[in-house]
Amino acid sequence: MTVPLIERFRDRLPVSAATPVVSLGEGSTPLLATPRLARAAGVRDLWLKWEASNPTGSYKDRGMTVAVSKALERDAEAVLCASTGNTAGSAAAYAARAGLPALVLTPEGAVSGAKLAQTRMLGATVLEVRGSFDDALRAAQELADRGTHVLVNSLNPDRREGQKTAVFEIVEELGAAPDAFVLPYGGGGNTSSYAQALAELGLATPIVSVEAADRRGTLATAIRIGEPVHARAVRDAGARVLSADDDALVAAWRALASEEGLFCEPSSAAGLVAVLRGDVEGDRVVVTITGHGLKDPAAADLHAPPPSLVAPDPDAIAAVGAAAAGERTA
Ligand code: F0G
Repeated sequence: MTVPLIERFRDRLPVSAATPVVSLGEGSTPLLATPRLARAAGVRDLWLKWEASNPTGSYKDRGMTVAVSKALERDAEAVLCASTGNTAGSAAAYAARAGLPALVLTPEGAVSGAKLAQTRMLGATVLEVRGSFDDALRAAQELADRGTHVLVNSLNPDRREGQKTAVFEIVEELGAAPDAFVLPYGGGGNTSSYAQALAELGLATPIVSVEAADRRGTLATAIRIGEPVHARAVRDAGARVLSADDDALVAAWRALASEEGLFCEPSSAAGLVAVLRGDVEGDRVVVTITGHGLKDPAAADLHAPPPSLVAPDPDAIAAVGAAAAGERTA
């Protein structure tokens, strides 16, 4: 049976016997070796923490199980978030599981349709805000301050507590700390969670956080955030902040899919950009892949090779298949 994240790490999370555990089977995600990309990057051991296999398809579920369980324990009447899409789907799912209403604010026209559909299907009330993610987050904070809704963005410390468990799993599985943790940097909540985990473990492993070069306009809408709300925590944690432009993001994203069979969303490839560029030192590097490719199929549709049209004829099909195989090995 799947062990809920809260049960696996109960002694290191802010929960007690009185906390109702709201779980969808999150955490305990695969740590995958990626030998082809390791060779390309010149890194001896390159591991990917595949957070796409969380129940709603992103790492947000680690924090959401804790945030919603604690909200329920405190008799919350509703949860609220601003989101570029993944927090939205996660909040909607855990709120549904808890029997709580969820109110989700998204930046108008800037969230993948798949994420919106997921969130709507899960029963959340979705409001598109006329403005950016930063505007939506400010509005969410102001509304939460009135006390009617519990904010489940990563400003909520319970979220960050849950997210730190990715580091516990990685260190446990490797039997030691890697030489570096590398992850995307949007608002910085996950970076600050990783730093918190390392502090609790008494480790000083470097964290490399990779942001979009064009924060306000990147095609990676999950990390289209102009003003990272955890910027100070990221700085105080000593994380090294690097940036990736959209061309590099797309190249790393496609390489991960076609070379290793792992289809993530564009933002999730940010860490990989830094590793492939040779910017991360160490023999043993762990890159966190934060969200599934099916979260943003429209982005894949724009960048993946289109299908060919053939007659239902084995000779024609074999000819096209052979040409495609030739291109791949060329
Ligand atoms: N990767 C994915 C897939 C994300 O959805 C996000 C953030 C990040 C990386 C960045 O993480 O903000 O902790 O530095 N998504 C938020 C959301 C903003 O609303 O879903 P961060």
